[in-house]
Amino acid sequence: MLDTSKLMLNKGSLNGHVIIVTGGGTGLGKTMAHCFSQLGAKVSIWGRRKDVLENTASEIEKLTGTKVLPLSCDVRNYDEIENALNLCISELGEISGLVNNAAGNFISPTERISHRAFDIIIDIVLKGSKNCILALGNYWIKNKKQGNVLSITTTYATTGSGYVVPSAAAKAGLLAITKSLAVEWAKYNIRFNTISPGPFPTKGAWDRLFPEILREKLDFTNKIPLKRVGEHYELANLASFLMSEFSSFINGEEIIIDGGEWLKGAGEFNFLDMISNDEWTEIEAIVRNAKS
Ligand code: HXC
Ligand code: NAP
Repeated sequence: MLDTSKLMLNKGSLNGHVIIVTGGGTGLGKTMAHCFSQLGAKVSIWGRRKDVLENTASEIEKLTGTKVLPLSCDVRNYDEIENALNLCISELGEISGLVNNAAGNFISPTERISHRAFDIIIDIVLKGSKNCILALGNYWIKNKKQGNVLSITTTYATTGSGYVVPSAAAKAGLLAITKSLAVEWAKYNIRFNTISPGPFPTKGAWDRLFPEILREKLDFTNKIPLKRVGEHYELANLASFLMSEFSSFINGEEIIIDGGEWLKGAGEFNFLDMISNDEWTEIEAIVRNAKS
């Protein structure tokens, strides 16, 4: 559960906000929902599994005393999204924000993925987010209300990555929607940003992306300059800032929170941190001698 003693915003910072978090029943979505609720927002959590959503909603409500509305829906189906949105408005009132967090993903060599499985990932991540953005966007535009959309992408939305190709394609598309609508819909007072997290332990991601058999072989914290994975409160603080008025001039940004992981992979000579001091002395002598 989220350690609320580590939250950066004051209690009440999100009073008056009503925020939808897709995939809010588990993992990072649950953490963000808890954080928003702790800060005073009414939250609606969406996902496919009703029992998971109901348990999470009552767990958060008990801790924060603020209304959490669980709504079972599949983000791939536009009609289900419109129904959920209408229920949400009638139960919680005017919606102020959307967090596109629901996702599907698994590691696999691409040639082992069927065209159906490829479609499923694109449908959940890209089309599902598009469905929520269109439904909420049209509601905000029609009712002349301001809106705020935060999407959870990944660092490989920009770099691409083998072994998660459907997810990389879908997250790249979501990043493109974000940057496009941040400009186009600014005239309606709707802003768009993304957070691209590095590894943050959740059951959903770990079971599908870092299974035990891989964890035994590879210590992936070595890829991260800060030598550790992310802590949930770190992401929750960033998300709550982006959903609050304190970030009202931030629009169209991708904010990376990964301990420097992707830069380490990108920098030409970053692999040299494996060289010892003695080896550097030897290398320096050789390099200084290069002229001769
Ligand atoms: C190859 C696979 C597979 C695998 C499933 N499939 N697992 N193919 N390798 N390991 C294929 C199936 O054979 C099937 O294709 C198709 O995928 C759909 O599988 P189902 O189990 O029938 O579908 P469904 O129950 O809807 O499950 C969807 C899912 C599942 C995406 C496959 O993983 C899921 O529900 N995920 C939701 C949560 C999640 O993924 N969380 C992680 C997000 S983490 P065929 O052709 O046989 O019908 C994340 C972090 C990224 O994104 C960055 C980390 C640093
Ligand atoms: P998670 O716990 O598995 O969360 C995924 C959520 O999406 C689940 O609650 C799931 O609920 C929901 N979902 C999946 N398919 C759906 C559908 N068709 N309709 C509605 N809801 C659906 O994984 P997580 O690690 O917290 O991931 C959350 C987000 O962070 C994702 O966008 C992921 O790509 C991103 N991310 C995570 C990490 C990480 O290290 N954890 C890193 C980078 C990015 P149901 O199964 O009940 O539908």
